[in-house]
This record gives sequence, structure tokens and C-alpha cells, in this order.
Amino acid sequence: MKVVAFLCRWCAYAGADTAGVGRMKYPANLRPIKVMCSGRVDPIHVLYALRKGASCVLVAGCHPGDCHYVKGNIQMSRRMFLLKNLIEFLGIEPERIQVEYISAGEAKKFSEVARRVVENAAGMDGSRLKAEWEEDHE
Ligand code: FES
Repeated sequence: MKVVAFLCRWCAYAGADTAGVGRMKYPANLRPIKVMCSGRVDPIHVLYALRKGASCVLVAGCHPGDCHYVKGNIQMSRRMFLLKNLIEFLGIEPERIQVEYISAGEAKKFSEVARRVVENAAGMDGSRLKAEWEEDHE
């Protein structure tokens, strides 16, 4: 079981880094991907991760008002809201996409979010979508 986490370099990724430096534990099956801004995460990236077997995708950015590119996190939040509705329409659990706001100083929050997202993802079958996709595209 894997969780792909797109983390904004300025906030959430720095929070993960701080958690690591502070020796706070978070699950190893959370795979962090550093992005310059959460607004850089295209819905295609999220769908690709789900299609490749991720049980859940976390997109974490700066808190509203703190984005280094002004509105990237707000745009991400709107996109993920629409994407969650779309995947629900397609029969995929919307909880498989999680959005969080984590600052660089919130190491404890990062480790709690990571643990919660991985625990929730444990009940979701990431392989079903991958198998269906491969079956449809053989
Ligand atoms: Fe962090 Fe935009 S710079 S979400």
C-alpha cells in the first residue's frame, strides 16, 4: 500500500524535513514528491498516481494566504475539490484524495497528517483501479 504525497517545497515539504530532523515518526509508505507549489500539482498527476496503484494521494501546501506564488494553494484546493467530485462520479472513493495545509514549522502536524492519511488509505484498494486500467488498455 502506497500513499503519494505532493508536498510544497516551501511549507509541507519543509514540515516533513523538520519532522525528520526532530526524529518524529511517520509511515514509510508515504512517498513524498517535492513540488515548487501545491498549485503546480495538475489533476493529471493525481490521476496518474491513482492509476499506478496509489491507495491515496495527499496534496499539501502552504496555509491560505501564505503561498509564495500568491494563489497557488487556493487554485489547488479548487482543482482537488472538482477532481474529488469527478472521481466520485466515476465510482472511486473521493477520500482517496486528501488536501492539507502544513507550514514549515508544523512538523508535528505533518507527522500526524501522514499517519492519519496512511491509516485511512489502508482500507482502500489501490490495486483495483490499476488492474481495471491495465485490463481496458491491453
Ligand atoms: Fe506553498 Fe504555493 S508556495 S502552496
